Amino acid sequence: MISNGVAPDGKLLGISDVHVGNPENREVVEGLRAESDNDWLIVAGDVAELIDEIEWGLRVLRDRFHTVIWVPGNHELWTPPQDSVPLRGQARYHHLVGLCRELGVITPEDPYPIWQGPGGPARIAPLFLLYDYTFRVDGTHTKEQSLAYAHQTGVVCTDEVLLHADPYPSREAWCQARVAETERRLVTCDQGMPLVLVNHWPLIREPTRKLRYPEFAQWCGTQLTADWHRRFNVAAVVYGHLHIRRSAVHDGVRFEEVSLGYPREWTPRGLPCPLLRPILPALEAA
Ligand SMILES: [Fe+2]
Ligand SMILES: [Fe+2]
Repeated sequence: MISNGVAPDGKLLGISDVHVGNPENREVVEGLRAESDNDWLIVAGDVAELIDEIEWGLRVLRDRFHTVIWVPGNHELWTPPQDSVPLRGQARYHHLVGLCRELGVITPEDPYPIWQGPGGPARIAPLFLLYDYTFRVDGTHTKEQSLAYAHQTGVVCTDEVLLHADPYPSREAWCQARVAETERRLVTCDQGMPLVLVNHWPLIREPTRKLRYPEFAQWCGTQLTADWHRRFNVAAVVYGHLHIRRSAVHDGVRFEEVSLGYPREWTPRGLPCPLLRPILPALEAA
């Protein structure tokens, strides 16, 4: 990539939820290739659960693309009992950031990189915001009520068992701290340059309305970010987690869910095309 000027070619691409613990998905990741030496790849979380598998996935992608930008998904933040790294919560997140630094992968803890290629310039902001149970089940008014409904239906996210918030007292407290810190950082960005916001969980509630089990939404984001796409100069929002790949426009801003998902989800209809979603330039303009 040319640092002072516009690169002649290259794309800013996005994928998420590659879940490489599944052999079929591992094969898919092994098969990914950049089209150009200048292609950048956004990896919007859920690479895998085990540290060794996360490292494998990020290393493969790092070797294939000019630049790789990663944000954590809930699966990376799990502490599976069989993992070689027993770290929990924030310590696990920091361990993952350290791993990315060794690999040369950009994380939410690094300066926001600027895409200078076609469709740019744009500042890419990898975010780690988590969720706070405010995407509640319709008709419920508290986290406790919403969670109780989920337990009643049996649709309970595994995060309840494996995603620890240490040293925060709860996942929502961790989420609120991340949101506050990230907001402070975004406010200081020069709003003259468009932003590409990247977060594993969608920034707004609307995409969760497509979930087969609506009670799962409480593990999918926070109302605290509901106006960020309007408040900041946002060219696109990239997210995953729902395993409902789609492109939609909200308030004039493009929202791209770029997930691959589990083999049982994608094999019936085949791999999505294009598998690597063009973020910049936008598909329509590419
Ligand atoms: Fe996922
Ligand atoms: Fe996820």
